[in-house]
Amino acid sequence: MRLGLRHWLLSTSTCLLTAVTVTAMWSSLSLAQTIPADSELGGEVEIIDNIEDTDPEDEVIDVNEPDDRPLESLKGKAPPLPDLTGIVRNKDWAKAAGKALFWDQQIGSDTVACASCHFRAGADPRVTNQLNPGLNAGDKMWGSTAGTGLTASGQKAGPNITLKPDDFPFRKLLDPNNAKSRVLFDTNDVSASAGTFAGDYVGTIERPKQQPRATNTDRCRRTVDEVFNILGHGTRKVEPRNSPTVINAVFYHRNFWDGRANNMFSGTGVFGLRDIRNDKASRLVVLKADGSVALQNVRLENASAASQAVGPLLSDFEMSCTARAFADIGRKMMAQQALKLQTVSTSDSLFGAGGPLGDMVTASMIGLKFTYGDMIRNAFAKRFWGSPDKFKFVTNDDNSVSLVKDPAGYTQMELNFPLFFGLTVMLYEATLVSDDSPFDRGQLTAQQQQGKAIFEGKGKCIACHDGPLMSKAAHVSSPGKQPKLVERMPMSDGNPSLYDNGFYNIGVRPVQEDLGVGGTDPWGAPLSYSRQWINGRKADSYLINPCDFEVPFPGQETVACGGNAVPPSVNLKDERLAVMGAFKTPTLRNVALTPPYFHNGGQATLQQVMAFYNRGGDFNNINKSPDVTPLGLTLTEQDALVAFMQSLTDERVRCSRAPFDHPELLIPDGHKDGVYKADGRVADRLRVLKATGAAGYGSTSCPSNTGNLFDMARNINGLPIKP
Ligand code: HEC
Ligand code: HEC
Repeated sequence: MRLGLRHWLLSTSTCLLTAVTVTAMWSSLSLAQTIPADSELGGEVEIIDNIEDTDPEDEVIDVNEPDDRPLESLKGKAPPLPDLTGIVRNKDWAKAAGKALFWDQQIGSDTVACASCHFRAGADPRVTNQLNPGLNAGDKMWGSTAGTGLTASGQKAGPNITLKPDDFPFRKLLDPNNAKSRVLFDTNDVSASAGTFAGDYVGTIERPKQQPRATNTDRCRRTVDEVFNILGHGTRKVEPRNSPTVINAVFYHRNFWDGRANNMFSGTGVFGLRDIRNDKASRLVVLKADGSVALQNVRLENASAASQAVGPLLSDFEMSCTARAFADIGRKMMAQQALKLQTVSTSDSLFGAGGPLGDMVTASMIGLKFTYGDMIRNAFAKRFWGSPDKFKFVTNDDNSVSLVKDPAGYTQMELNFPLFFGLTVMLYEATLVSDDSPFDRGQLTAQQQQGKAIFEGKGKCIACHDGPLMSKAAHVSSPGKQPKLVERMPMSDGNPSLYDNGFYNIGVRPVQEDLGVGGTDPWGAPLSYSRQWINGRKADSYLINPCDFEVPFPGQETVACGGNAVPPSVNLKDERLAVMGAFKTPTLRNVALTPPYFHNGGQATLQQVMAFYNRGGDFNNINKSPDVTPLGLTLTEQDALVAFMQSLTDERVRCSRAPFDHPELLIPDGHKDGVYKADGRVADRLRVLKATGAAGYGSTSCPSNTGNLFDMARNINGLPIKP
């Protein structure tokens, strides 16, 4: 049984929406008849006031998903998504709002959109100002671990450098196929994504519609980050982990490399129940039938894409000046015309005349005809935005939080911004399903078939990269089945260990540099399901079936299956765990388009990744998976593996065709050396990524399918620089 059902009170009066009829001339208000009233929607929003009662010990798992899932086509398979009855009343409006919000440069404090780091095949192929000195390892020193301050190619490491082919891989060996050969270079630096500038949030400024475009920035008191600056002039901060693709991300049970984007979306944060438990102000404002308002949360299982989406908004690495609140973004965005600083193609698959809502693009082709407020009202039940009052949150003496009316406060719609943002972006990402590669069509070349055989055999890749997504951390919708979230098997030292299924330590970097799923949330609770279980305190709500472990506990056969039960002789606290330094297994779909690779972005090409696996990984430790050992693959076999991975590329993704088409985007691609803004920050070098219509780029503009960062970067370098 899926967890979600228990927590969702379904009503029988479900209103089936028919497609919105579109007339040539329309305003959003004329939609009134086609949008159902809340009373017709059914569904109740669960009030979570006893969150201690979250452990589903009483529930029994009937069927686990099978362990060995073959590589197979993704066609016809849907992501597991929550039931949104009672919350979303029109999914087309929600998807459209999600796509606009994802691409809109107004949302970041200084022009960063979600898409800024996810614009090419859902990932980020930039090579300038993309280096982080290893902040997750607590290291602020740039360059090699030997302390030279240089990168592998010998350039001085630091902000705004342009990475070169010789800078990769980040651990260079004399013989890349032999982990014991001499180490020529090593760095804990990370190649990732440039995000926002340092500064403390003050308020918003709205600039006139155009000239200069994309400058609906926030007012921030500018500070200079101690790491990301050149001679005291602020540069854009760079993330401490590489950007994975958003395409097919809606299939993951948890999102982010360390799984911290919770499977359960609370409507207000990244961490599911943990936000609700630890932050009393992490609440939605819900309008009741009698006109009163209540502080509540939604509880939506299988919504990690929504939990993920609300993270970057307030992150002062990604999109925000420090201490901006969701409601501030709500206030800034709801009254705005969607995408008002960016060109949109009239043939856009979601916004154009051929889309589900008809032509949404303005006559000037700059922005949509609607404000975000219009779109949210059309998409969501009125109980989340219908109150005429303004409010503020007040913390009481006993630490509880109350909502009080305040004419200078925020509207209900502004306060509920994370709910709207999370769910609309999740529904947009649910359209970014890539299932039409030569692999899905059964059109592999002889070399690709050879690669597939190695993938499933000698290479042992399928041990972790299985199923239609090529990831044990990803699942397609299979009603009645429960993904296996905790597993027990021997690690590299031969001793059985519990671990989070789908998360593996493969020895990319030393464990202490980045704990991955072995880390904790902001309140100190473990991210790992296995660790929570043996600690006897679950921070999340999930089920474990110990009868299904690859190596069950001795005596397990004496205990009834399901219900988390272990034999009395087993003291869970003494169980060994293999979660430190373990990362989410990424999907391999479109992987040839998403270099650089691994959580540290330390490999520029698929060939380098193959050599890594062939030598059995870079850093041995007892938690390392037993499936990552020297493989003895010839170069021909490694090339065949690369060819197989190239067969996982969807042409629609490669050429940004529908549904992967997009509006225009100004991409910060490094800084202009020695050119400063009035407030002292180093000026951006901006490239113009043009809006594509449903037909995508002309074939000559599509990046090549080589799995080489520098081929992708060349493609970006071809984009015009904004004068
Ligand atoms: C500054 C660059 C940047 C921006 C802006 C950004 N991201 Fe990301 N994104 C990243 C990085 C880096 C990660 C990996 C972080 C981690 O796992 O710790 C990531 C991870 C993700 C993932 C998880 C994929 C996976 O396989 O786990 C999704 C989905 C995603 N981002 C969507 C978004 C959305 C939606 C937004 C806007 C709200 C956004 N990103 C804004 C850089 C960025
Ligand atoms: C023990 C599990 C496991 C095995 C076996 C395994 N992988 Fe991986 N793979 C992972 C994990 C986990 C990551 C992410 C690791 C990280 O970044 O720290 C990954 C990352 C990758 C990446 C980089 C993807 C990206 O977006 O950064 C590629 C490519 C890849 N694996 C291919 C393969 C191939 C080919 C094989 C077989 C030769 C293989 N893997 C074997 C677990 C595994």
